[in-house]
Amino acid sequence: MAEAQAQQRGGYADDGPATAEGGVRFEVDGEIATITLARPEKRNAQTFATWSALARIGNSLPEQVRVVVVKGEGPSFSAGIDLRMFTPEGVPGQGSFSSAARSEGADFEQRIRQAQAGFLWLRRPEIVSVAAVRGHAIGAGFQLALACDLRIVADDVKFCMKEPALGLVPDLTGTKPLVELVGLAKAIDICLTARTVHADEAMRIGLAESVVAGGDLDDAVREKVAQLLSTNRDAAVATKRLLQGAQSRTLEEQSVAEGVEQAARIKALFG
Ligand code: ACO
Repeated sequence: MAEAQAQQRGGYADDGPATAEGGVRFEVDGEIATITLARPEKRNAQTFATWSALARIGNSLPEQVRVVVVKGEGPSFSAGIDLRMFTPEGVPGQGSFSSAARSEGADFEQRIRQAQAGFLWLRRPEIVSVAAVRGHAIGAGFQLALACDLRIVADDVKFCMKEPALGLVPDLTGTKPLVELVGLAKAIDICLTARTVHADEAMRIGLAESVVAGGDLDDAVREKVAQLLSTNRDAAVATKRLLQGAQSRTLEEQSVAEGVEQAARIKALFG
């Protein structure tokens, strides 16, 4: 109860130091939750604490929430992983890549799985996630935007999958949605050159649903959220489930799935 009240009022996802350290703010207003990366002075660079905070939010998301907005404070959505991870000292309390390299491979893979949990829940059928992206969305920042169902971007947006330039692969769940959105050839082009994708191209290749002037971003997101909330909740959940399964099913299988979902809807509405 106290936790629910705290969430209604807004504030950090919980009072634990790790969440505050992760620089993530979490607010709930009725059916809308807003996650804000709130370390603008460091361009919302992300650490393991950020990803733990995101995972905790996913685990304790109030049931009434239908739409989750993910945004960044300040001029950049997120400049990606905190570059201190590349130094021998690392991020205080969270280690560094050099300490990880000395540990067992399986341990590090487990840490990556934990980090990915902060991104994966944003695709749940029960919610629609909307990234509001302005300025830089680099590496982990680009992948956080890709983890969301929809991306509404400001005209100064700069997407960049920088990992391969740093000797790494994108590992925060971003490769699949990127390929699904833009196709394999364009995904190879974007990732293996680590080039910047600006607003006009993002719109053209399907990375963004809409591009608006920076000053209009919040209004554009509010409008989209209102549209998303205007449909029947249970029908929206079932329809998202259908759409998510469409690519992996044959037309025949998808038609069967549509029938199953519709029969459940008709029963719920008229039974
Ligand atoms: N990690 C840690 N600190 C960062 C990061 C980061 N990823 N990005 C920016 N900062 C810090 C800067 O060090 C600076 O701190 P300071 O004021 O204490 O010196 C502050 O944020 C502002 O950064 P500027 O570079 O001054 O801001 P500017 O707007 O000119 O540039 C930009 C923004 C382009 C994002 C630049 O900061 C940058 O290139 N950052 C690094 C991007 C990067 O390589 N990320 C890793 C991607 S790979 C991955 O995510 C797995």
